[in-house]
Amino acid sequence: MRQFFIIYFFLVALILTVFGFRGCKSDNTPIEVFPDMDRQAKFHEQGKTSFFDNKRMDQEPVAGTVPFVTEEQKVYPHLSPDNRFRENDYLVSGRLDAETFGDGIPVEVTWESMKQGQEIFKIYCSMCHGESGNGKGVVANERYEYNTIASLLQTRLIDLPDGEIFNTITNGKNTMGPYGTKIRVEDRWKVLMYVRALQRAATSSIDDVPAENRGELGL
Ligand code: HEC
Repeated sequence: MRQFFIIYFFLVALILTVFGFRGCKSDNTPIEVFPDMDRQAKFHEQGKTSFFDNKRMDQEPVAGTVPFVTEEQKVYPHLSPDNRFRENDYLVSGRLDAETFGDGIPVEVTWESMKQGQEIFKIYCSMCHGESGNGKGVVANERYEYNTIASLLQTRLIDLPDGEIFNTITNGKNTMGPYGTKIRVEDRWKVLMYVRALQRAATSSIDDVPAENRGELGL
């Protein structure tokens, strides 16, 4: 009988603790059996600390930190994550209007910018498209099996307006990712410049090189 009362008592206590106060509101601090990370020593914005010499919890960014919203994103808001494309600006869209891509490079074509284009192409494009642009970069082999990569030297792309290729670099196409947030707008035109140079190199003959420059080719 005694046992029965003990079990009965615990059962009532259990039912009460589990179901008894459901929905009840209380202003009391909850009992913390496992406080886990409810309270922890951490820095709050605008807080004070003796850890740093200037006694501030929030510190200036380290010199050379790349800002999330760059100066360029202020000038070209479409590059900022929460802004849409500005359709009518040829420099940033490669488009003349919503439907038509334009032809022509809106930044100055110089030897310097061409070399920058080459550098950026090697960093961002060559692992897929290959250093010569033939679509056979290192990831296009049996091991990585990335085999949808386009050759940039095909006639269709040679004939494509500059703006459309610029748009592909900015926004990507099918299985190619976008580079609009990774490569600055002028630099994307420089990459395009270099793509044009690769196409030219792949389709031209020695007759295209002026006689006085042929010596520079080391042939
Ligand atoms: C991760 C691999 C990869 C990288 C890096 C890459 N591409 Fe591509 N690119 C592709 C693939 C795959 C396609 C074919 C997309 C398709 O299916 O139409 C393609 C297609 C293209 C096309 C043809 C688009 C068309 O109209 O058919 C151009 C131009 C191009 N890429 C330029 C570039 C340039 C310039 C860069 C460097 C900024 C670059 N790509 C970086 C994978 C890549």
